[in-house]
Amino acid sequence: MTELLRLGVNIDHVATVRNARGGAVPDPVRAGLLAQEAGADGITAHLREDRRHMVDTDIDALMDALSIPLNFEMAATDEMQAIALRHKPHAVCVVPEKREERTTEGGLEVARDENKLADFIAPLREAGSRVSIFIAADQRQIESAARIGADIIELHTGAYCHAHIDGDIALRDAELARMVEMAAVADELGLEVHAGHGLTYDCVLPVAAIPQLKELNIGHFLIGESIFRGLPDAMAEMRRLMDEARG
Ligand code: PXP
Repeated sequence: MTELLRLGVNIDHVATVRNARGGAVPDPVRAGLLAQEAGADGITAHLREDRRHMVDTDIDALMDALSIPLNFEMAATDEMQAIALRHKPHAVCVVPEKREERTTEGGLEVARDENKLADFIAPLREAGSRVSIFIAADQRQIESAARIGADIIELHTGAYCHAHIDGDIALRDAELARMVEMAAVADELGLEVHAGHGLTYDCVLPVAAIPQLKELNIGHFLIGESIFRGLPDAMAEMRRLMDEARG
């Protein structure tokens, strides 16, 4: 049996629902604590530049309340670096961010900005955070991530998940094959490999079976599913599928 995967629960969309009315409920910190109680291995929260879901006080409160690791997602900006250095979360996941996008649509362009990103992540690592780079399954980008001193790459599973939803089996299988190959490349380079974006019960199994993977980060689907069955139960089914894939 392959080593079991960690499940990181992304709670951004609890804040999306809260912000739709501008009040205090539903509280993403309460969701984080519930996920922790239900066996999450970590909580992921993305503080976007436009604060469309998480806001600064959510990150403060999560840092205070959680006893499991916080994976703090952020863009490579001076403002976010300062916030991360103040909090020193367990992990910082650097993602590309565009104001006009609905969600994080692609992986970070590391190869073009190697020097800048190396300087950007160095103080975060010195402060004790593990640095993860959200990246497409692209060898050039992965080699750059290793060169800049990242600890982890998180493979963007969005293209694979979208092809699955669209019923484009050839594209889905090609995307999966690329992730399988690139996970091995990253592992060879000494990078820890995570994956996430768009994962659902229907498409998680082949991704979870990639042997080098250590962690999946899943949000939107789990938060949506929890409307119908509650977060602990929604997580339990995802965990069951992840464990089945490793068995
Ligand atoms: N990992 C990263 C780096 C992300 O940006 C996101 C989305 O915010 C996720 C995982 C979770 O994606 P989803 O909400 O589609 O499950």
